[in-house]
Amino acid sequence: MTFTQERTLAATIRADFPILAQQVNGHPLIYLDNAATSQKPTAVLQSLQDYYQGFNANVHRGVHALSAKATEAYEAARDKVAAFVNAASRDEIVYTRNASEAINLVAYAWAMTTLQAGDEIILTVMEHHSNLVPWQLAAQRTGAVLKFVELNETQEFDLEHYRSLVSNKTKLVSVVHVSNTLGVINPVDEIIAMAHHYGAKVLLDACQSVPHMPIDVQALDCDWLVASGHKMCAPTGIGFLYGKLDLLKSMPPFLGGGEMIADVFLDHSTYADLPHKFEAGTPAIAESIALGAAVDYLLNIGMDKIHAYEQELTLYLFEQLATVPELQIYGSKPNATASNRAALAAFTAGVVHPNDLSALLDQSGIAIRTGHHCTQPLHRYLGISSTARASLYFYNTKAEIDALIVALKEAIDFFGEFAD
Ligand code: ALA
Repeated sequence: MTFTQERTLAATIRADFPILAQQVNGHPLIYLDNAATSQKPTAVLQSLQDYYQGFNANVHRGVHALSAKATEAYEAARDKVAAFVNAASRDEIVYTRNASEAINLVAYAWAMTTLQAGDEIILTVMEHHSNLVPWQLAAQRTGAVLKFVELNETQEFDLEHYRSLVSNKTKLVSVVHVSNTLGVINPVDEIIAMAHHYGAKVLLDACQSVPHMPIDVQALDCDWLVASGHKMCAPTGIGFLYGKLDLLKSMPPFLGGGEMIADVFLDHSTYADLPHKFEAGTPAIAESIALGAAVDYLLNIGMDKIHAYEQELTLYLFEQLATVPELQIYGSKPNATASNRAALAAFTAGVVHPNDLSALLDQSGIAIRTGHHCTQPLHRYLGISSTARASLYFYNTKAEIDALIVALKEAIDFFGEFAD
């Protein structure tokens, strides 16, 4: 992308995100905390307003006009999500509160009802807590054994180690598609093919991939995939589970209540068909509809274009970070086209604590995240307690990366004086 093209992108796309126009601490906001949550375009904000102002009603529960309109919009959004990830059927998309709830759904409804003592679950040392704790709970309940793929010398998923772990005992491989800390894009084609060779199921935590690149669940052939709406321009409180139809059909309900039933008697019940079997209670109606609006918004730009632009940002980010010698960046370096990693970098800066770094950057209006990013075991594995992380989205620009670098150098100089 040329400078002029980037200016055009900044002028058009950034105008869709009113929050980005503000000043923070006297400086234009530079929002580089997109792996934690993305900003929301006007189309998504408008969709929330339209629902509450125009047709706020419960779904699947009434024949009145407002309820019919709400139900139609709620189910239309499911169609949009299904098409977005190329699910074979709309019934394969279950709305959840977030990706964590989607993983818990699979842990409770599949793992805890299927696994037996000695069965093995393969995870990695780079998993988010939400793709660790549910499997710890499942292992405690069933006697299943957790195994962890480690990192290779370039801090990527170690395929050789994975090969040595996967076997006929493996019943589940649950792995992050794009690490929220290392930024690496895992070799999911090989991971899935090898798991299936041994008859194991595969769950992909796609929270950091679905918002940033085209995803085709049929091409991937994963058994389940989870994502959170709030990282892809939608509101908080809505995420989704994709699952292969037969697998979802074979799983018992996770939560019980209204909406997920066919008939209820005092002592037993029959359940609704998919996907409603897994959607107990009044759902997040406005948020689901707004997720559909977010999908429309992203598709209107084009996921290919978003991915290509972010790859370019990744290369620029790493080129510029390399001019700050004090930084240690985690995860592999990008290859020539940055096809191996996402537009995020977690780093430490010598003696400067990440929190101090972030506090000083905030004075320049720059938002980054610090801490363990919900990957405490990974930080422990790397021998560190926290990192600073800059994570980008398609509305970020090279000029913002330049500003980050200037502020990082100033912060390191500032704290360096105290260290002397
Ligand atoms: N999992 C989110 C992050 O990485 C919250 O920041």
